[in-house]
Amino acid sequence: MANPMTLYRAASGVRLPAAFVDLDALDRNVDLIRARLLAGASGRKTLRVASKSVRHTGLLRRILARGGPDFVGLMCFSTEEAVFLCDEGFDDLFVAYPTVQARALDAFAQRAAEGRVLWHVVDCEEHVSALGVAGRRAGIELAAVIELDVSYRPAGGRVHLGARRSPVRSAAGAVSLARLAAQTAGVRVAGLMGYEAHVAGVQDANPFAPMMNPVKRALKRVAQPAVALLRAEAVEALRADGHDVVLVNGGGTGSVPLTAAEPVVTEVTAGSGFLAPHLFDYFAGLELEAAAYFALEVCRVSDAGYVTCAGGGYVASGEPGADKLPLPWVPLGLRYVAMEGAGEVQTPLIVMPGATQPRIGDPIFFRHAKAGELAERFSEYHLVRGGEIEATEPTYRGQGRCFL
Ligand SMILES: Cc1ncc(COP(=O)(O)O)c(C=O)c1O
Repeated sequence: MANPMTLYRAASGVRLPAAFVDLDALDRNVDLIRARLLAGASGRKTLRVASKSVRHTGLLRRILARGGPDFVGLMCFSTEEAVFLCDEGFDDLFVAYPTVQARALDAFAQRAAEGRVLWHVVDCEEHVSALGVAGRRAGIELAAVIELDVSYRPAGGRVHLGARRSPVRSAAGAVSLARLAAQTAGVRVAGLMGYEAHVAGVQDANPFAPMMNPVKRALKRVAQPAVALLRAEAVEALRADGHDVVLVNGGGTGSVPLTAAEPVVTEVTAGSGFLAPHLFDYFAGLELEAAAYFALEVCRVSDAGYVTCAGGGYVASGEPGADKLPLPWVPLGLRYVAMEGAGEVQTPLIVMPGATQPRIGDPIFFRHAKAGELAERFSEYHLVRGGEIEATEPTYRGQGRCFL
């Protein structure tokens, strides 16, 4: 828990609502994630930063700089975003979410033709063909990374545990898509990605559903070896078929050491862990520090024992649930009103017995459930070091960008 006095000092005199990033905590999270990468690694592995979990160019630069030579490149969430980041001076960008939109792919291919290191995910014929068209128009071969779905699918595939990411589910499936890519001018097969969302993204110490925690831990233990085996089989089969697989990506914040331990993996992705939103408090053994938060103004007191904040309905994506609401953080002892939750224009909170009653005009500090989505609600982040605002810099939104 951050020192509350530090939060109040940084927010003093700032227009509310406002979002803050604690750069000291961010640095410590970068160091911790880097240590987890190196501790787990079998051979040299690098870490690719998931931009979707940051969405702020100033912070992306700081994370890459702090990570040093072990942090290489960004995983982008849209083709247009990769183009934007190229123009912002970033390099080695892997778009891990597919598109067939010609204009975006043409701009992407143009940056590749200018010498940027760019990679694009594909999982079907349509993706390969659209990438090929863009590559040919730019007079180059674009680097395609095949996405392998590594979900846990026992009972002959009748049960599916994991994100629905790709129809490619076997080494044979990867080889057949790679052959198609090899026959398509303007594209070359350059890598394989398998994202084990059911291991890296599943909280196994979640106070909102405590009964499920042992089940989730057991599932992760069973699922991870299956992921490793499938990834290894697919890479081996692609190489045996003559494809030059140079990038093998996997993992997320919740699985860094496990994924780094796989010999076949060349790089692990992480993003959320740097800002450590509150969903990342609920992973066993992951001791990250809250680095991003926002402050709302107490604008009214409707009843004794309540306060109402202006704004606040910044609900996170994913399976709906109470854990997707922002977490009232400081001062302690504030709870949502069940019938209202985090509201569109105002958020009433119950002041629990024993807690100090905030006054009108006070800031109330919250943490978002997810790392990147906060940046869609604020045009700038106040960057705090040693309790003082060191800089105020725009989010993607503040730069006029909204990619998805
Ligand atoms: C392809 C891919 N890799 C990795 C990640 C992990 O990101 P994070 O570390 O932010 O959980 C994600 C998150 O959704 C993803 O989509």
